[in-house]
Amino acid sequence: MAVGIFDSGLGGLTVYEAVARAMPEVPFVYLGDNAHAPYGVRDADDIFQLTCAGVERLWDEGCDLVVLACNTASAVALKRMQETWVPADKRVLGVFVPLIEALTERQWGDNSPPREVEVKHVALFATPATVASRAFQRELAFRAIGVDVEAQPCGGVVDAIEEGDEILAEALVKGHVEALKRRMPHPQAAMLGCTHYPLMQRVFQEALGPGVKVYSQAELVAPSLKDYLARRPEFLGPGTASRFLTTGDPARVSSKATQFLRRQIRFEAA
Ligand code: DGL
Repeated sequence: MAVGIFDSGLGGLTVYEAVARAMPEVPFVYLGDNAHAPYGVRDADDIFQLTCAGVERLWDEGCDLVVLACNTASAVALKRMQETWVPADKRVLGVFVPLIEALTERQWGDNSPPREVEVKHVALFATPATVASRAFQRELAFRAIGVDVEAQPCGGVVDAIEEGDEILAEALVKGHVEALKRRMPHPQAAMLGCTHYPLMQRVFQEALGPGVKVYSQAELVAPSLKDYLARRPEFLGPGTASRFLTTGDPARVSSKATQFLRRQIRFEAA
């Protein structure tokens, strides 16, 4: 009854940790496409092809349901995948909607018309491809009116995290927050729209200041997925083993993952 978790690299581990904690009985198979990370600077076709290849690999592991723990893939490729590619007996879910539902104080699947919400000024931090897709603004407009979104493409942060260079990642995050604050001096909330960024959440929060509520996906996706599986248990696939797979170098990826999660993680070649 395994479930697949896909990311371009290490960032999806933040989501993996939260869902594995929330559902200890479910085996999760994680696939990081580290050989092709970062996705955030690739074009839409490239992201679509790579994401489909990763999802197929997880189907081979017996995961009929795959969570794209990657905003770039969710924002750029998921709609096209769902409309043209995913067969009826499989599911691919993204990580965007739970974040927006939390911001707009909605329950899962509440499709009522958009309404005014408390938060009016929102900062979005994401990869260049996610920002360019405007998927966040599109999904938000279905649910809320009158929310001003200022998006900051955070070039370089994913590369620095994948390289394990925390000092560079920290400096880049501070620079991106400053750049955003020049355009929106007083955001009320900040969305970390990339699953790599929770690894830098403390730095975002300090740079934004204590008055800004920082939303990160890991904790929001877990209850959404649990709820989904309770309603659609048929999508718990036939796989039985938890595994960590990578298209990159397993030894190198294991060591970076261990550094970030601060516990031993062993990746195998995908
Ligand atoms: N963790 C991915 C995301 O959430 C990173 C994308 C990338 O590889 O640039 O967007």
